[in-house]
Amino acid sequence: MKILSVVGARPNFMKIAPLIRAINEHNNNKKHSKIKHTLVHTGQHYDDNMSNIFFKSLDIPEADINLNIGSGTHATQVGKTMIEFETVLKNEKPDWVIVLGDVNATLACSVTAKKEKIRVCHIEAGLRSNDMNMPEEINRIVTDSISDLLLTPDKFSSKNLLNEGKEESKIHFVGNIMIDTLEANKEIASKLNISKIIKNNLIDINPHTYEQGKKFSVVTMHRPSNVDDRTTLSEFVNFFNNTASSKTIIIWPVHPRTQKQLVLTGLWEILKTNKEIIMLNPLNYHEMLKLNMEANVFFTDSGGLQEECCVLGTPCITLRENTERPITLKHNGGVSILVGSDIKTISKEFEKIIDVTKSPKIPNLWDGKTAERCLDILINNQ
Ligand code: UD1
Repeated sequence: MKILSVVGARPNFMKIAPLIRAINEHNNNKKHSKIKHTLVHTGQHYDDNMSNIFFKSLDIPEADINLNIGSGTHATQVGKTMIEFETVLKNEKPDWVIVLGDVNATLACSVTAKKEKIRVCHIEAGLRSNDMNMPEEINRIVTDSISDLLLTPDKFSSKNLLNEGKEESKIHFVGNIMIDTLEANKEIASKLNISKIIKNNLIDINPHTYEQGKKFSVVTMHRPSNVDDRTTLSEFVNFFNNTASSKTIIIWPVHPRTQKQLVLTGLWEILKTNKEIIMLNPLNYHEMLKLNMEANVFFTDSGGLQEECCVLGTPCITLRENTERPITLKHNGGVSILVGSDIKTISKEFEKIIDVTKSPKIPNLWDGKTAERCLDILINNQ
């Protein structure tokens, strides 16, 4: 069997690592017939600290093919990817194309493969925010509507697909593949030192230092709805600057999109002068995991971090109006609370959870063995 899998942006890298490991383990067993695997990187994320660092730290082999798509509007990214990927498929002729998550590469490559009459397997199928303003929601809906195998992370996702009329035989509940990576890397991360992480990643204009053992919260934001609008972004910055940082240190590994906006709006200057706010470059996987293990509170608009907070028990204030990952919410047994961008609600929730003791909440089949289940299903459908 010949499998070709696609990665494009940061959240894909943590999801492909366990699948590649599972394929290698399968191929190392002499009784099994070999699987040929080709890894394609579309190059949507290209900075060292948004891409290469993850390949290195998660032992992902260098991509066999890099499409070098880079930045651009959604149409530019999707269009360029489709043109390049079509040629790849004509040369490689795989039996299966595997796409992950909901980034532009997921959409572009699933559509291209399907038109080339190649079967598509979507890992992390069925997530729905029901918010068509999110580019990721469009990517999910289109990809799921044409995929031949829909591998879901939780019961909500399987139900969404059934409600949309997808054939039951295509849907398989396999668990969360990103948690395979978390389980495989917890021990390495636990040995890191917070002060060193900060020292190694401090943005050089930021003079702040961290005293080991001090309570801290972590902020990550990159969604256009939060960072591209000047008023919304400035309300967040005022909250972190005036309220949150008077209660804990704030550690903020900043996404390139967000850094650009902070500089453009002059908000960067405010953050720079607050000694309790530590601005960092994007972190590698183990560094972020260590912060999550030790943080008192997470403020995030990232889907993956909501899930990791759940498994590690870190109270999570989700800076979004909705989530495609309802299983992470407190009222569904998780740790996260949806607050949107309403600062009063954010303040109130922050007060409530700042001193809460961490308590991990692990959904069914988020057990570190999802990649093996994905591979078994592919083998049974070869
Ligand atoms: C993408 C994904 C999103 C995911 C996020 C994680 C889509 C539609 N969105 O959003 O689902 O949660 O990645 O990071 O695919 N940039 C750099 N260096 C890089 C990458 C990006 O400087 O290595 C800058 C570029 O100026 C770019 C901006 O960041 O314009 C945004 O990048 P883009 O690829 O458009 O989407 P993300 O916001 O990262």
